[in-house]
Amino acid sequence: MTKHLRTALLCTAFGLALGAGGAQAATIKVGVIAPFSGPFAMVGKTFKEAIAVYQAEHGTTVGADTVEFIFKDLDQANPAQSKALAQELIVKEKVGYLAGFFFTPDALAVAPLIDEANIPAVIFNAATSAITEKSPRYVRTSFTLWQNTVPLAEHMAKQGIKKVVTAVSDYGPGIDGETAFKATFEKAGGSVVDTIRMPLKSNDFAPFMQRIKDSGAEAIYAFLPAGPTTLAFAKAFADNGLKDKGIKFFGPGDITQEPDLPALGDAALGITTTFNYSQSHDSAKNKAFLAKHKELFGSSDTVTFTSVGAYDGAHVIYTMIQKTGGKSDGLKAVDAVKGMSWESPRGPLTINPDSRHVTQTIYLRLVETVDGKLQNVEKAAFADQPDYGYKVGK
Ligand code: PHB
Repeated sequence: MTKHLRTALLCTAFGLALGAGGAQAATIKVGVIAPFSGPFAMVGKTFKEAIAVYQAEHGTTVGADTVEFIFKDLDQANPAQSKALAQELIVKEKVGYLAGFFFTPDALAVAPLIDEANIPAVIFNAATSAITEKSPRYVRTSFTLWQNTVPLAEHMAKQGIKKVVTAVSDYGPGIDGETAFKATFEKAGGSVVDTIRMPLKSNDFAPFMQRIKDSGAEAIYAFLPAGPTTLAFAKAFADNGLKDKGIKFFGPGDITQEPDLPALGDAALGITTTFNYSQSHDSAKNKAFLAKHKELFGSSDTVTFTSVGAYDGAHVIYTMIQKTGGKSDGLKAVDAVKGMSWESPRGPLTINPDSRHVTQTIYLRLVETVDGKLQNVEKAAFADQPDYGYKVGK
């Protein structure tokens, strides 16, 4: 038996293969936890499709290693189930990386597991600032509520708006949004006349609409998790006459994500948001991303912020694998991407070495009809926005 063959057989026995130049190659597994069924199933689909776009552009190998994504369905905010799925991925599938996480509680639940197993968790969405404080192995490629809300509250104050009511889902990101808004808007001279917290599972918004009317506010700041929740809230705002009454509607861009705009219809017109990604963002990188998506899936109409969260997340994971030579060491992998900068379809990104969250441009957008289609049209850009909520008050 030649030395080469003997090594090859040994490698096969250990699940390894010989790469070019004789380097040992392995399959590196990435476990993605996200909703693939139920009301938020669209999120999982956007993650999966964006990863496919990334792999179509960059291949499925890094050096000698093959990167394989494994998808697990978590249909709603359910931390116990998130932990169970992460455990299964780590123990049974032997993943080297965890990723995904739409809802904050699901991301938070895996902190003890990623620390024990020493594997990184790359968060494609969950947006409560405190998450990355809970483990040094979290890296986040989405946004935080603080990051979107500070420039929005400053803009609203500059517009001369004085009295605002906040309406948020009553859990991590909603409370961050409310806190960030109140702190920033009041510092700029405005006043928050009522703070409404709505149960995460609310689907009847009429009582909240009455409270908004009664508050006497000129404008609302609203956050709910993107999807059926935001759609129902924004429709209720128009259907209950608040729009006709002249109350202005502001919020982070979750409320007007592109896949929901056709169903929102005219109710979306005039909503002003701040966000990290707009499908209509005018850059060569975004055009190429949308074109590849269309080539692979026949349409780019569903491309939204969760798409770029996953696309950039895949880029971070590939870079971690490349920079650590495929060795599985979570802390080294995270260290390897601290300070990393790149051009995303949304604009320039840098991973802040302390917060391990992306510093990025936040855009002020207005929903308008462009060529017969509702779009978030970018009106202004606030460069280099950090996560203002990282270790806030600590
Ligand atoms: C979150 O739970 O952190 C979350 C979910 C949906 C969003 C934003 C944040 O649109």
